[in-house]
Amino acid sequence: METGMRRLVVVSNRLPAALSREDGQWKVNAGSGGLVTALAPVLRNRGGMWIGWSGTSEEDADVEGLLSDFSAEAGYDLRTVPLTSDEVAGYYFGFSNEIIWPLFHDLQTRCRFEPDSWRMYLDVNFKFAEVVARSTTQDDFVWIHDYHLMHQAFFLKSMGVKRRTGFFLHIPFPPPDIFMKLPWRWKLIQALTEFDLVGFQTIQDRRNFTNSLHRLMPEASVKGRGAVVTVDMGSHQFRLGTFPISIDYNQFAAIANRPEVARAAFDIKEALRHRKIILGVDRLDYTKGIPERIRSIQTLLRRYPDLHGQLNFIQIAVPSREEVDEYKDLRTEIEQLVSRVNGEFSFPGWVPVHYHYRSFPPEELVAYYCAADIALVTPLRDGMNLVAKEYCACNVSGDGVLVLSEFAGAAAQLQKDAYLVNPYDLEGVAKALHRAFHWDKGQRQSHMSRLRDLIRKNNIYWWVDSFLQAGIDRKLGDFPPVDT
Ligand code: ADP
Ligand code: G6P
Repeated sequence: METGMRRLVVVSNRLPAALSREDGQWKVNAGSGGLVTALAPVLRNRGGMWIGWSGTSEEDADVEGLLSDFSAEAGYDLRTVPLTSDEVAGYYFGFSNEIIWPLFHDLQTRCRFEPDSWRMYLDVNFKFAEVVARSTTQDDFVWIHDYHLMHQAFFLKSMGVKRRTGFFLHIPFPPPDIFMKLPWRWKLIQALTEFDLVGFQTIQDRRNFTNSLHRLMPEASVKGRGAVVTVDMGSHQFRLGTFPISIDYNQFAAIANRPEVARAAFDIKEALRHRKIILGVDRLDYTKGIPERIRSIQTLLRRYPDLHGQLNFIQIAVPSREEVDEYKDLRTEIEQLVSRVNGEFSFPGWVPVHYHYRSFPPEELVAYYCAADIALVTPLRDGMNLVAKEYCACNVSGDGVLVLSEFAGAAAQLQKDAYLVNPYDLEGVAKALHRAFHWDKGQRQSHMSRLRDLIRKNNIYWWVDSFLQAGIDRKLGDFPPVDT
């Protein structure tokens, strides 16, 4: 098949390896977040090239040298796009993290619509496009990822560089009433129409996009029905599709089945005296609803005193975007809430909330997934949420419960067998947890086995194949119809 023959070139803001300096020494760390978790196994499996920023703007770092070992071991090429500290400030922190990130997660009051950030976003997108043009050929499939790089196809075309391009948005696309607040809305949506294929996580995201497109570019007409459709712009056409991202299911399940991981999970349970474990795992981000989640645990303990001493809530948070004030404030808020809840309920031998603020190696994270009776995944808004899928893949005992926010993209796929909640409804979440504790084993097992089957089938390789087939060689008629 043609998709197998073309070289895959992934372009994203972040590479799978991030450089940082610790105690004066440069270190190469695995990048954090869902995009890297999802794509790293894909490139390891197929080979190809990944183009992105190294994560540092410090000039004394020997970026190529530091990344070459990583690249040799991973089995694919890495190309870096060097960024100055001003570029990082305007394009990454300013435009990507303080405008698009909050706006696309429906949190418009957190946006800082700074015109200089927009200009820097365009400059850096041009810089990325120059590297893409130099590092690729017409035979490659260039797959651009996420909101940092929405102008890649636009700039490649304006340079006269012909490439087959696909774009996938990992985060939600907001409803038109929110998108229309963006001062540069027309230029941004017009740039997206320049890709050959644009992919979204859910049907709702795709519908939000087409609704904004119709308002801003009335000449656009959508043709066809199904998971992939064509948009006719008059001057050219492009494809639009829905592709819910996933995980390397077998890899997570294999780690969970290792004896040392099972032992580590047992040790966690034993240290907590075999109380029920409720687990939260997130990048520390205001979209993840961590304060609301802790308050719902507080509500649970206030409403149901019979649960005192019977459960532990463990929140694992990986540091993220620590230079941004809102993330610093969030960290303080979470720490205060954890101590408030523990102050209210602890007694000798029992501290209800355990909080870890650090990145965990995969085996340790999987041990927590295996130990948890309930995963509490309650983002206020999320493109997909891979933690929900990782928990199910690792639940080899088959009797865990996934309590999931209805505002996570994952809810569209997992709604039949996850316990859906509104993360803003503290009492509703508390009630859901209380009920989940009383599900009998058969009930838990039948829900979990269906969740695991679905994620095993619709895994990350299925996702890549569906995107590449839509981007490269499949006829539209081949795609099954979906509810639109
Ligand atoms: P996002 O992409 O917004 O960060 P996802 O839930 O889709 O959200 O992906 C988060 C990824 O980060 C998951 O693969 C998860 O395993 C990983 N992760 C989250 N917290 C930690 C942690 N403390 N240590 C290591 N990995 C983590
Ligand atoms: C989300 C985004 C990714 C991003 C990741 C980590 O998953 O969709 O594009 O890489 O968060 O955020 P960071 O700002 O550290 O790259």
